Amino acid sequence: MRRIGLEALERVLYPVIPVVVTAEHQGRVGGMLAAWWMQASFTPPILAVAIAPERYTYKLVRESGVFAFNLLDFKLVDKAPFLGDVSERLLPGKIREAGLNIVRGEVLGAPLIAEASAAVELELVDVVEAGDHDVFLGEAKAVYTVDDFRGGMWSLETYRPLMYLGRTRRPGPVYRVYLTPRGWERREIEFAGGKLKPLAEKRVRLISRVEEAVKASSSREEAVDAVRRILSEEGLDPSDAEYLVEDALRRAKSYRRRGQSSS
Ligand SMILES: Cc1cc2nc3c(=O)[nH]c(=O)nc-3n(C[C@H](O)[C@H](O)[C@H](O)COP(=O)(O)O)c2cc1C
Repeated sequence: MRRIGLEALERVLYPVIPVVVTAEHQGRVGGMLAAWWMQASFTPPILAVAIAPERYTYKLVRESGVFAFNLLDFKLVDKAPFLGDVSERLLPGKIREAGLNIVRGEVLGAPLIAEASAAVELELVDVVEAGDHDVFLGEAKAVYTVDDFRGGMWSLETYRPLMYLGRTRRPGPVYRVYLTPRGWERREIEFAGGKLKPLAEKRVRLISRVEEAVKASSSREEAVDAVRRILSEEGLDPSDAEYLVEDALRRAKSYRRRGQSSS
């Protein structure tokens, strides 16, 4: 590797699968491509996306508190300029102009792109300022997929994810480069297989001992002391106890929430 200029960072992190963030406020539906997104929590299931205040979609999400992620197939690549280069502020109804249709989510009534390969309805739970973009955190309330997603995984037989590589900067017109991998190479790597297995098992045992200790303690301090002792017994650094207790408390909270939502 060689050190390069920080201005290239964004493109070093590509390619990514961008999502189309859709939202609606007072009858106005909009949407934009967003490459800067991630899952931020398992339970509750939280997705995050960074949106600049200038985007019309920013206003729609802030005002309505409801939004959606939509994943597009590469066959829709020609629609990308409507979603990523022009603003709903200046081209009202741009999703329809792009030849795409809106359907309603079943849970929040969020606007979803009918032609998408997958969509997630999200309820806005927080907005965190981060430099020139704000990070919107949304709790997933429903997820929809086409049939290519089966057995808990994309089969990738018909779905070809739209991916983004960045903008060209050569003299002349600016191009955005979209791609989809050809000739997928697939390998199944055993989870913590081979010589890592004992360590993976040790980790699971440690986590459950910590959970037990936290459950049996009447205060956080007591739990941290108990976990310090466990770590010493296991030949591990006792000063990590705080982190493991925090993790166990959060997981317990997640289980409680899951219990609540399934009841
Ligand atoms: C592939 C791609 C990824 C993008 N990712 C983001 C992003 O993560 N966050 C953001 O604020 N803008 C992003 N943009 C820019 C917006 O999509 C663009 O400004 C859009 O026209 C905003 O539309 P709106 O004003 O109707 O919301 C991206 C654009 C493209 C083409």
